[in-house]
Amino acid sequence: AAKEGFGKSKLQFTAIPSIDAMVDAVTVPDGFTWQPIIRWGDPMFKDAPEFDLANQTAAAQERQFGYNNDYTDILEIPGSKGRRAVLFSNHEYTNDAIMFPPTMPADQVRAVGAAAHGLSVVELERQNKNKPWTYVKGAELNRRFLNSTVYELTGPAAGSALVKTVEDPAGRFIKGTLGNCAGGTTPWGTILSGEENFQGYFVGNGTSAGDKRYGITSKPTARQWELDEPRWDTRNPGYENEANRFGWIVEVDPFDPSSTPKKHSMLGRFKHEGANVIIAKSGHVVAYSGDDERFDYLYKFVSKDKYREGDRKHNMTLLSAGSLYVAKFTGNSPAAEITGTGAVPSDGAFDGTGEWLPLVLDGKSAVPGMSVEEVLVYTRLAADKVGPTKMDRAEDVQPSLHTGKVYVACTNNSNRGTGTNEGANEVNPRNQNRDGHIVEITETGDQTSTAFTWNLLMVCGDPAQGDVTYFSGFPVDKVSPISCPDNLAFDSVGNLWISTDGAPSGIGRADGLFKVTLEGAERGKVEQFLAVPRDAETCGPIIHDEERSVFVAVQHPGEDGTFENQVSFFPDYVAAGTTPAPGQARAPRPSVIQVLPIRD
Ligand code: FEO
Ligand code: CA
Ligand code: CA
Ligand code: CA
Repeated sequence: AAKEGFGKSKLQFTAIPSIDAMVDAVTVPDGFTWQPIIRWGDPMFKDAPEFDLANQTAAAQERQFGYNNDYTDILEIPGSKGRRAVLFSNHEYTNDAIMFPPTMPADQVRAVGAAAHGLSVVELERQNKNKPWTYVKGAELNRRFLNSTVYELTGPAAGSALVKTVEDPAGRFIKGTLGNCAGGTTPWGTILSGEENFQGYFVGNGTSAGDKRYGITSKPTARQWELDEPRWDTRNPGYENEANRFGWIVEVDPFDPSSTPKKHSMLGRFKHEGANVIIAKSGHVVAYSGDDERFDYLYKFVSKDKYREGDRKHNMTLLSAGSLYVAKFTGNSPAAEITGTGAVPSDGAFDGTGEWLPLVLDGKSAVPGMSVEEVLVYTRLAADKVGPTKMDRAEDVQPSLHTGKVYVACTNNSNRGTGTNEGANEVNPRNQNRDGHIVEITETGDQTSTAFTWNLLMVCGDPAQGDVTYFSGFPVDKVSPISCPDNLAFDSVGNLWISTDGAPSGIGRADGLFKVTLEGAERGKVEQFLAVPRDAETCGPIIHDEERSVFVAVQHPGEDGTFENQVSFFPDYVAAGTTPAPGQARAPRPSVIQVLPIRD
């Protein structure tokens, strides 16, 4: 339910300057400091060995924190007086060229890499609210989710012929999760994680409508897991449907290490960036999710049943039944005025109306010629039939719990308006959109409504470099330059926080985390809070503004280096010619970091 009002945040800071993309450092505002909470390879269990970069084994990696942490959240353990919490993070993919010595045997590289994927849950502790968190090795709730971890498929596609394999003839139990990108934390305290670029792990025939629409080809995959397990090649008899078992929203209960995680078919199958839930006035829960691909769509799920305060067991069933919609946006300015580089339309705003087009209504297909199972397994093909708006890569989509307004990070789309590709329109107003934009949606009435109005909160770029930008009318010479918005979060008083992925190739500056004022005279003001090290993307922002703390997942630092010529040394920063201390490495390590005030 929406909270009322906006107040002044306890997290006051002076924006940092934009940082050169080659700088291999974490930059935070004056008066703040940072430190890692957990790094790639940190041992999570009592029997886990210390990280040893040059001699990684699969057995060690299975018991250590994984690679390329993306969505992250920290949830306090009830009754711990703020002194214990559980941290969730997912491990989207690996950067094999900088992780493994060239001398490591290929089968070992594949096995360690596979074990570095998946999810992690780890307990944190601190002395009091002013002290930094540290992770607790061997704690009760610690859990690694690996390719062998079993997920239960829920909703209408569970048990369908489209998801059955020789290993799972019932079509209900799936091993592993892949490409986990952004996510969301539900009002009932579970974690949602989006399976995004799963297609890169599969070899297929490459000719079926499904393979083509989801990008599965007959070429060997980059990581070649197909050499070790037949299921990664869907041409193998009995495994034709294996790829249909990925591309879902995953739900995890971080407070129960023995629980079976879920994959929710009711939210559709596509390159889910993530999903975020809000409880509508009616009590139904609504989840928003973007499909991160150029010219793909924005989706919304509405539950059949209602949220029950305090009934966690019931609430954990809510994402299994309901309706699924895809968004269509209509602008209200003449198209000719808004193509090109993004000047403000004559009516003063990028805005208009929209509707949620049904794909599934109350568990039944709303798409002619397709069963509900087909709509949910081949959601992109189903959506293609109803005419939704092709977006500029919808990444994180998140409703504000203060206002119910929904924010969509369209990260970029270099192909808009090129060749035969669709050109700019009011909701995706730039051709060759390099820097992205943020859409703000206001549902008409209740959050379950099928009608909405919309406007653009910002059109990103660096005004100082001459980019044509828009910040809801806020003076463009008074904002931090921002490019390629990706993950979204809110602080406790309703400000939007945006982390970026791709600013180095956009405006030539380091990626970072930005606070955006949404209401009042300063609406559209963008203030940069931090910048991440060389080649890294900023992921999984958590804003604990009441404790003046911010957390981010630093993903793929130094990814353009090689094992022998690393370009980032984050976060250990072991000096050249120095032998790393036990557990440290002179190589980049994706890590979850905390930023907190310097206290005397
Ligand atoms: Fe993994 Fe859409 O970023
Ligand atoms: Ca992302
Ligand atoms: Ca307009
Ligand atoms: Ca991204």
